[in-house]
Amino acid sequence: MPTIIFVQHDGTEQRVHAEVGQSVMQVAVNNQVPGILGDCGGNCSCATCHGYVAPDFSSHMPVAESYETDMLSCAVDVTEESRLTCQIIVTPELDGLVVRLPPTQF
Ligand code: FES
Repeated sequence: MPTIIFVQHDGTEQRVHAEVGQSVMQVAVNNQVPGILGDCGGNCSCATCHGYVAPDFSSHMPVAESYETDMLSCAVDVTEESRLTCQIIVTPELDGLVVRLPPTQF
């Protein structure tokens, strides 16, 4: 079972086990990770699941589709590492994925 590491803007880490096939947003919500709300249920229409994904995992993740980048343009504190975590499906290759939370989400 892959482990996902969520890191708050103050450095607090939360390591959670994730089931393959879930979205990273679902994993966060199921484990009550502060800062990831998933208000739209993963329909890519709220950006309350915004997180920064470590670039060393980018080759194991789907490329952001235009609807994701469009929604991210409405988020704050967007960087080149920004992703909507509802659009990232957990695979075995994502074991150890680090997702940092923006300072505006807590
Ligand atoms: Fe709404 Fe990801 S949960 S955009």
